[in-house]
Amino acid sequence: MRIAFYDTKPYDKIWFDILAEQNGFEIKYFDFKLNAETAFLSKGFEAVCIFVNDTADKETLDILYNSGVKLLALRCAGYNHVDFKSAYEKIHVVRVPDYSPAAVAEHAAALLLTLNRKTHRAYARTRDNNFNINGLIGIDLSGKTAGIIGTGKIGRLFAGICKGFGMSVLAYDPNPADDENIKYTELDELLRQSDVISLHCPLTHETKHMIHTENLEKMKPHALLINTSRGALIDTTALIEALKHRKIGGAGLDVYEEESEYFFEDLSDTIIEDDELSRLLTFPNVLLTSHQAFFTEEAMREIAQVTMENIKAFQAGTAFENEICYKCNGPCKKEENKNNCF
Ligand code: NAI
Repeated sequence: MRIAFYDTKPYDKIWFDILAEQNGFEIKYFDFKLNAETAFLSKGFEAVCIFVNDTADKETLDILYNSGVKLLALRCAGYNHVDFKSAYEKIHVVRVPDYSPAAVAEHAAALLLTLNRKTHRAYARTRDNNFNINGLIGIDLSGKTAGIIGTGKIGRLFAGICKGFGMSVLAYDPNPADDENIKYTELDELLRQSDVISLHCPLTHETKHMIHTENLEKMKPHALLINTSRGALIDTTALIEALKHRKIGGAGLDVYEEESEYFFEDLSDTIIEDDELSRLLTFPNVLLTSHQAFFTEEAMREIAQVTMENIKAFQAGTAFENEICYKCNGPCKKEENKNNCF
């Protein structure tokens, strides 16, 4: 089995090389992304492995299919970047559904604590022998309200962390979890009542730009907005306006809607052409990390392990545990479809 890996970094190879050798797979690593221009390089590979910012639209998938690719293995949980309608009946798509929800929930907490207590700014000051604490004031999180949008695996863990801080938790999810510790409310109410709002829902047609001008207007003027899910949940133009007009207290972002050209790359010698990204980086009350919430040793090991198991299941012709497909409109419903959906 030959696998083409797109958008790889040195840290990906650490875990995948060990497992590839154990399983007798041959991996070709490409450091550039998958898209319609690079898809032709998959010729001769049965499987292609991609990450969050690769493009798997109709044009790209058609090229993969015509090149003989039969499996698209996502080494991530989110699949908003895959046109799985176009893949249906041509290329099987598998993913790693939950490699470490704790990694992401803990990073959301890191963003929240840093943004609130400004430890990133304090670090820079003390390194420069500046021991002045002017401007570093935060608020007690204890006694405040956290509003959690999306209470799946990550959202529920983040709710637990917030409770550990002594916060009360409000949640919004169209599919509420059967958890008596979570108090559900309407989105409107959550936006109005929360001191911290954290996004943990997937990016879909319904959730794109769910944080828009009107919803930002509903938030408390000191509310901290945390996004570790997908950038396009937030309308960036609206967020910048809200920050400029002090409508909210700040934003901690691990994702950005136009991140694919920038995140994961060292562009320190480059002029950034994205004015919205540059503007976001000028606010003292915005903290941006480069889609690193997943990036723990445990998560990387699990991503490699599950990706390889997914590829082995494909090779063995058994039903794929982690397949997503158009027919099931997302994760395959194994109870209904004992075998693969096509
Ligand atoms: P999950 O599938 O366990 O939970 C998602 C929840 O969102 C579900 O309960 C679902 O009902 C809910 N939801 C769907 N539509 C909604 C809406 N319109 N409003 C509110 N809630 C809605 O997913 P999980 O594992 O908790 O991951 C959440 C997201 O985190 C993923 O979709 C992915 O985009 C992101 N993620 C980010 C990572 C990072 O490194 N920054 C790493 C892994 C995941």
